[in-house]
Amino acid sequence: MRWWVGPARLRSLGILGMNCRNLDFIGRYNPRRLYPLVDDKLKTKVLAEREGIPVPKLHFALREQFRVKRIGEMLRPLTGFAVKPAKGSGGRGILVIQGQENGVYVKTSGRRLDLEDIKRHISNILAGLYSLAGTPDVAIVEELIELDQRFAGFSHEGIPDIRVIVFRGYPVMAMLRLATHESDGKANLHQGAVGVGLDIATGRCLLAVQHSLPLKVHPDTGADFSRLKIPDWPEILTLAARCHAMTNLGYLGADIVLDRRRGPLVLELNARPGLAIQMASDHGLLSRLRQLENLRSRHATVAQRVEFAMASFGQGRGGRARSSED
Ligand SMILES: Nc1ncnc2c1ncn2[C@@H]1O[C@H](COP(=O)(O)OP(=O)(O)O)[C@@H](O)[C@H]1O
Ligand SMILES: [Mg+2]
Repeated sequence: MRWWVGPARLRSLGILGMNCRNLDFIGRYNPRRLYPLVDDKLKTKVLAEREGIPVPKLHFALREQFRVKRIGEMLRPLTGFAVKPAKGSGGRGILVIQGQENGVYVKTSGRRLDLEDIKRHISNILAGLYSLAGTPDVAIVEELIELDQRFAGFSHEGIPDIRVIVFRGYPVMAMLRLATHESDGKANLHQGAVGVGLDIATGRCLLAVQHSLPLKVHPDTGADFSRLKIPDWPEILTLAARCHAMTNLGYLGADIVLDRRRGPLVLELNARPGLAIQMASDHGLLSRLRQLENLRSRHATVAQRVEFAMASFGQGRGGRARSSED
C-alpha cells in the first residue's frame, strides 16, 4: 500500500484517517470519563483482576521518592521483572529485567545495570519524565512475561504483543508487534519493533513492516514471516473482545501477550489506538467499522461477536487484502 496517496484514494481504500477516527469513533464511542481507566495501567490492572481478566501480576507499585532508596531490598526476591510508568505510552520508560545477581540487573538485550541505574530510572518515572502530561507518576513493578516458545525465532530480545482493535465489542483488526534489537526488548513500533498484520479469520501473517517498509524476514533472526501463525487465536480475540464489557469503551486497542506458563494476558488497553495497524494489515479499518455500525442488531455474546468477526473480516492466505467494497 502506498502511503503518500491523496485523500480521495485513501477513502476508496477504506483507510481510517486521524480526523475521522477522532470524531466518528473515539469522540462518539469513548466517553471521556472512561479514559482514566485505561490511561493509568495500575487502574486497568485492578479493574481487570476484579473482572477475572488475566493480566501480568503486580509485584508492587511505588509512589514516593523516599521509598526509592529501599528498592534493592524490595527487588531482591524477584528473578525477572518489568518496571514501567503507570501513565506511560509507546514503550517509553519501560525497563525489562531478565535476571539479577549480586546487585547486577540484566536487561533482555544482555546489557547490565546496577542498583543506582534502577534507582535513577524509578526516580525519573516518579518525577513524571515519561507520563503523558509530565505530571508525577507511579512506578509499577510487575512480573516478567516469559516468551511462549512458539514465538521462538520471531521475536528478538523481547516479548511480542498482539494489538487487537475492538469496536462495539467485535475484534476488527489485529497486528502482532515483534521486538527487535533496535526496539530494546519492547514491542512498540516507534521504538523499531516490527508490525505484522494478522488475518482475523486465522491469526496468520498478512504483511510485515518495520519503520513503514515491508519485510519478508525478521531483521535480527531471519525468521520467515509467511510461516507465522498465532497460537490460541480464538482465545486471544475473545480476551480482547471481553475488554469492551470491562471498560465500556466502544473503540479500543487491547494489547495481549502470550505468556509461556499463563497463556494470553492483557498487557494494556488504549482508548486512542494508532492507525498504523492498517498499513501492516494492508487494509483499511473504515469499511469494517461502518459495517458494524450498520448491523441491524448487535450480537448478544462475546462468543457470537468473535465468531461473526472471524467469518466477516478474513483476508485469506498470502496476504492480499480484499478491497473495501467486499
Ligand atoms: N511484564 C513485562 N514483561 C516483559 N516485557 C514487557 C512487560 N511489560 C511490557 N513489556 C514490553 O514492553 C512493551 C510495552 O509495554 P506496555 O505495557 O504495552 O507499555 P506502553 O504503553 O508503553 O506500550 C510490550 O509490548 C512488551 O514488549
Ligand atoms: Mg503498549
